[in-house]
Amino acid sequence: MKKRVLVCLTGASGAIYGVRLLRELNTEGYEVHLIVSKWGEETLKYETGMTSEELSKYADFTYSENDLAAGPASGSFPLDAMVVIPCSMKTLAGIAHGYAENLIARAADCSLKERRRLILVPRESPLNLIHIRNMAAVTEAGAIVIPASPAFWAKPKTIEELVDSVVERVLSHLGISKDSAAKWTGES
Ligand SMILES: Cc1cc2nc3c(=O)[nH]c(=O)nc-3n(C[C@H](O)[C@H](O)[C@H](O)COP(=O)(O)O)c2cc1C
Repeated sequence: MKKRVLVCLTGASGAIYGVRLLRELNTEGYEVHLIVSKWGEETLKYETGMTSEELSKYADFTYSENDLAAGPASGSFPLDAMVVIPCSMKTLAGIAHGYAENLIARAADCSLKERRRLILVPRESPLNLIHIRNMAAVTEAGAIVIPASPAFWAKPKTIEELVDSVVERVLSHLGISKDSAAKWTGES
């Protein structure tokens, strides 16, 4: 059976991270479920020129963030993993405090209570103490925080290569190891 992953894009800068993750999951044969928040749609349009409809072509199922009766609103909905990429500080706060006001926060709440893999890719700078405490809270509750902070040691030449250094970390925590992914093998 295909693995099922729920990908959520929220209104933090870095929509391209979500776009590239969706493309990879598609080629890896995952069953992809997608939620884009209202502000996720705005930043997607502003930063990449893409609409959420265009993004939907990478997903098998798409839900409105307001549809709290959709499958991912229940812990009984079978999912292997959930990724919020990029994750805004507002969505992070909702998840950290169990304040499930939309389908993204509710699905994350379910992932935590069902002890499923939940990966958050936050983007904000600088961080205030509330952001840092919220990252600690979700980590204590079982989520994996992978900050949207690209690495430079693989000497990226394009924005896509920079972005992929973050996306590859996410894929690796989903159990997908790409041959093309940069791997540090020690200094020669
Ligand atoms: C162009 C743009 C860039 C933004 N960048 C960030 C960001 O990097 N991090 C963040 O936490 N919020 C950012 N925001 C603010 C969020 O979009 C805002 O807090 C929103 O309420 C998040 O809602 P959501 O989590 O439901 O998508 C940005 C907003 C805009 C319009």
